[in-house]
Formats: sequence, C-alpha cells, structure tokens
Amino acid sequence: MDSILVRGNGALSGQIPIAGAKNACLTLMPATLLSEEPVTLTNAPRLSDISTMRQLLQSFGAEISVLNKGLVIAMSSHGLDNWRADYDIVRKMRASNLVLGPLLARFGQAIVSLPGGCAIGARPMDLHITALEALGAEIELKEGYLHAKAPLNGLKGGTHRLRFASVGATENFLLAACLAKGTSVLENAAREPEIVDLVSCLRKMGAQIEGEGSSRIVIEGVDRLHGATHSVLVDRIELGTYMLAPAIAGGEVELLGGRMSLLGSFCEKLAKTGVEINETEAGLRVSNTKGRVKAVDVKTEVFPGFPTDLQAQMMALMCTAEGVCHLEETIFENRFMHAPELIRMGASIDVKGGTATVTGKPQLKGAPVMATDLRASVSLVLAGLAAQGETVVSRVYHLDRGYEFIEEKLKAVGADVERIKGS
Ligand code: UD1
Repeated sequence: MDSILVRGNGALSGQIPIAGAKNACLTLMPATLLSEEPVTLTNAPRLSDISTMRQLLQSFGAEISVLNKGLVIAMSSHGLDNWRADYDIVRKMRASNLVLGPLLARFGQAIVSLPGGCAIGARPMDLHITALEALGAEIELKEGYLHAKAPLNGLKGGTHRLRFASVGATENFLLAACLAKGTSVLENAAREPEIVDLVSCLRKMGAQIEGEGSSRIVIEGVDRLHGATHSVLVDRIELGTYMLAPAIAGGEVELLGGRMSLLGSFCEKLAKTGVEINETEAGLRVSNTKGRVKAVDVKTEVFPGFPTDLQAQMMALMCTAEGVCHLEETIFENRFMHAPELIRMGASIDVKGGTATVTGKPQLKGAPVMATDLRASVSLVLAGLAAQGETVVSRVYHLDRGYEFIEEKLKAVGADVERIKGS
C-alpha cells in the first residue's frame, strides 16, 4: 500500500486547478441508468470512487467509455440486463446506494447490498427506504441486501418529508420520482450544490423538476428521459481542502474554478481566522501572510452550514491556531478518527462526545500517521505541510478515492510531498 511523505517546507505559492466534484459525479453516473439514450459527463474527476461506480454500472450492462484522460465519461444504458448490486462492489463505497432509485424506476425492481465506504459512523439507509416507499416501493432487508419492488404499473408520485435533510436520500428520491407517474413532493430536502447539479443534468435529460437548492422539491414524472451532455460541478470539498493549505503553511494560492457560493459558511469561518479570501477571474485567491491564524469555533451542519467533509481539515488548521477552539460534529457520530493521529504530531486535542477541543500549538512535529477515512487522510497531509520534519501518511488508498493527483497539485505550489510506492 502506498504512503505519502510530507516535509514541512514553508509558504506555498501558485495555482491549483480544482477538479469536478466526486460527490456530484457519483450521483450523476447512476442518473444515466434512467435513460436508454447515451449520456456524457465532462469535467469528471479522476478518482478510484468513480472507477468503482463505473464497474457497478457496467455490472448492470451499461456500456461506458472513458475518454480524454478520464475527464469524459460516455455512458449508454440501453442494454441493461441486471438489477442486482453485489456486496463486492457496494462495500467499497457508500454512494453505490444511489443506484437503488434509478434501478427501481427503470426495472421496477432492485436488489442492492447494504453499503460500505468510510468508517465514519452508522450511516444507515432508513431515510432512503422511507423516501422510496412514499413512491409506492416495497423494500425488504434480507441477508444484507435491500430487495426493492415497485407496484405492477410502476412507481407513483407521492409526498414525503425527510426526518433529516439527507443528501443521499434526497438524491435517491429525485432519481426515482423522475419516472414515477404523477407529481412527487419532497419536503425538508437537502440543499447541497450537488443536488442542484443533479437536477440540472436531469432537466437536460427531460425531467420536470422545480425547487432544487430549496427545502421543497417538486417533481412531475415523465414517461421517459433522453440523452444529454453535462459538465460536472466543481468539487467544493477539494476546493475547501486546498484553501486550507496556504492557511496552514502560509503563502498565497489561487484555486482555479473555485467560487465562494459553493462553500456556504466555510468561507466566513476561514476569513474569521485571519486568512484572506478574494474572488478572482479564474477562481479564488487565498492568502495567509500573517503566520498563525486565530482559533474559531466550528459546528458542522447541512448546507449552507460548515460541511462535515471539511471538519478534519479545519481541525488540522486549528492545531496551530492561536487560542482554543471547539469543533462540534453534528452529521456523523464517529468522525474524529484523525484526532489521535494529529495528537501524534504534537497537537493538543480533547474529544468528548461530538465535540473536540483543540488548543493551538505554535508548531506540529512530523510523525508516522495512519488515516482511517478519506477526509481524515487529507487532514494529515495538510498538517504535515506545517510540521517540522517528516510526516508519513500511510493507507493512502482513501486519499485516492477523493483527491486526484494530490502530490502533483501540492508540489505545483511548492510543497515537498511525494508518494512512496507499496510501503
Ligand atoms: C454526507 C454529507 C454530504 C457529503 C457525503 C459524502 C451532509 C448532510 N451530508 O452525505 O454533504 O457529501 O456525506 O461524504 O453533510 N442518515 C440516517 N439514515 C439514512 C441516511 C442517513 O439516519 O438513511 C444519517 C446518518 O447517520 C448521518 C446523516 O444522516 O447522521 C448523514 O447524512 P446524509 O446526507 O444522508 O449522508 P450522505 O448522503 O452520505
């Protein structure tokens, strides 16, 4: 298994291009199951999670070509002949559960293994199940697989209020309701930018949807969807992660393709630490020329609140901030696995329940560390940028799930980062 070696190397300077959003692409790909006509996604990220989704769709009979060095994914779902998503693929990635809605809508049935992915909490499926039941689906859990069936003449429009504004459950409901008969309404829907991007693509395919980006989405079912070409939204989590690199190491970096509106309250929080953020023609410029930033309290929330997917990286910044900060995680119950690793690097962190109290230290020290989930992994790389000496982050397969060419992107702004093969 590869490791990443990081040596603290002072201030960063230069530009980092931001890729297409992993979490948008992972819902756009299953959307293509809804049409018999070809759908092409451009600006796709080059990540192992995207390859896993490709394998999953191919296992249903989809024909997929990857073009232009992986940036373009051309998909055709006309010859589908299987509606079972096996554990072997699903266990690698929780987003596999997003095939449930489209398979149900297209075949009237689906058998989908319970999902895997990062070990950041219970991550149940009840919200997905009750949302799809509101469209007439019957879903049973048998031996680790969800067995879903639509009524004989297909899914029918329904109204449903989510108990929690789950991103995945909103996506599954939307994907299924596009082809259901009649009108469907989702209340307390998730408002994340990835939902808006999914609706933008579905609309190009002929879906009739209103209200995306708000808490109430209305879908008028249509008989069929057609082909389309869609450019994947910019990855707000990759953007936020690389905005934190100059915040931690010092310097000035321009994030190409970045926009503040993608990040909700994250930009306000980062600005409060003393980091400067400016919109440019090409993206966002982030600079920290003052040294240690100020500690700020953070609470993760649904969009536009502070994203849970940037909590670990923000903790890395807080480790060397001036003052004490409280980081409260409200989305996942087990998402502080990076804390003991940051402590190995000299950080002062006290975790009690869903809150981590971080007392900033002037300097972290490099150490061998091990990441246990995707965002935790990258938080350790970020911490290494500002640490004295060498940090070796092992088990980087998690990183490859979510950050394309991470060493190249960081090296381009002056970081001393290299991949050690097979250790
Ligand atoms: C979550 C993030 C999303 C991020 C994605 C990938 C939020 C609100 N969602 O989406 O921004 O891109 O991870 O890292 O920040 N839950 C249930 N039952 C369910 C489904 C979820 O109780 O059926 C609970 C989970 O236990 C957890 C929360 O809802 O507490 C997670 O929210 P959800 O949005 O569903 O998670 P993801 O779709 O994975």
